[in-house]
Amino acid sequence: MKRIGVLTSGGDGPGLNPCIRAATRMALSLGMAVCGIKRGFAGLMDGEMVDLDARAVGGILGKGGTFLGTARALEFKTLRGQREALRNLNQVGVEGLVVVGGNGSLSGALALHKLDFPVVGVPATIDNDVGGTDIAIGVDTALNTILDAVDKIKDTASSHQRAFLIEVMGRDCGYLALNSGIAGGAEAVLIPEAETPLEELARTMVDAYIRGKSHCIVIVAEGYKPGTLAIVQYLSEREDELGFDVRVTVLGHVQRGGRPSAFDRLLATRLGSAAAQALHDGQPGNVIGLVGNQITLTPLEEAITNPPKIDMALCKLAEIMER
Ligand code: F6P
Repeated sequence: MKRIGVLTSGGDGPGLNPCIRAATRMALSLGMAVCGIKRGFAGLMDGEMVDLDARAVGGILGKGGTFLGTARALEFKTLRGQREALRNLNQVGVEGLVVVGGNGSLSGALALHKLDFPVVGVPATIDNDVGGTDIAIGVDTALNTILDAVDKIKDTASSHQRAFLIEVMGRDCGYLALNSGIAGGAEAVLIPEAETPLEELARTMVDAYIRGKSHCIVIVAEGYKPGTLAIVQYLSEREDELGFDVRVTVLGHVQRGGRPSAFDRLLATRLGSAAAQALHDGQPGNVIGLVGNQITLTPLEEAITNPPKIDMALCKLAEIMER
């Protein structure tokens, strides 16, 4: 393989830049030229490409976002869009592709693989809902961003003896909520994978104050039903009876930005470089992951159809620590 392409797709997150840098520099060291594709699959269909050399990916290791840009490209789901992409790749002599992103992006990678184009996927999503890896690029930094916010909210919550609902991202997955709840010392965690009746939540919150706590922090995964606003409404309507004020903070896209942590830079460097190596070694059709601190290759289809399950032992641990 003489020339490969690299693109970042879907929702961005910290660590994409170090991943592009690693894939590029590893490819160059293996004698392959590199083409950066702008705005993910959207840019691929539009033929937006730039040549990348070692200098072009300099100075981006510690920067958030993705210097190539990204997009959610619905049109790439169609065969017409995929054929357009293949035409553009063939035109500039790109023989293999590194796709960096979450589930939707890896599904796009699988579509190209099924059309016999050599592609490897690198899991990058703050949601940590992709199979084939213990942890995706961006998760660690997002967790640290959440913890920073939780620590600050605790200061004001304690001063006023208030309760706070803090909504975190994760789409349908409770990984960010559960792990930030444990690491942030929350009094309760609500995730889509475990049902908690609102009466039970209210009891847990009242109990926290009875046990002598000066605040009550509830981390709510954005995918939790009936949704943060409905929970706030339920609790607010009962403020007198419960005996505490409720406030809500939706962290939103702040979780997707920022300088990648040391862990994410290392992870991105390991996975990005292994992706270029896999293309060079003739091992396309795989997701490059980190399992038990070892680099692994998992068939794209398997990684997409087997998202990781929430560790119920961690849920139990969270409950014990909530005391
Ligand atoms: O998949 C990453 C993610 O940040 C999810 O946690 C969130 O639900 C979604 O993307 C938000 O997407 P958008 O940035 O397109 O609004």
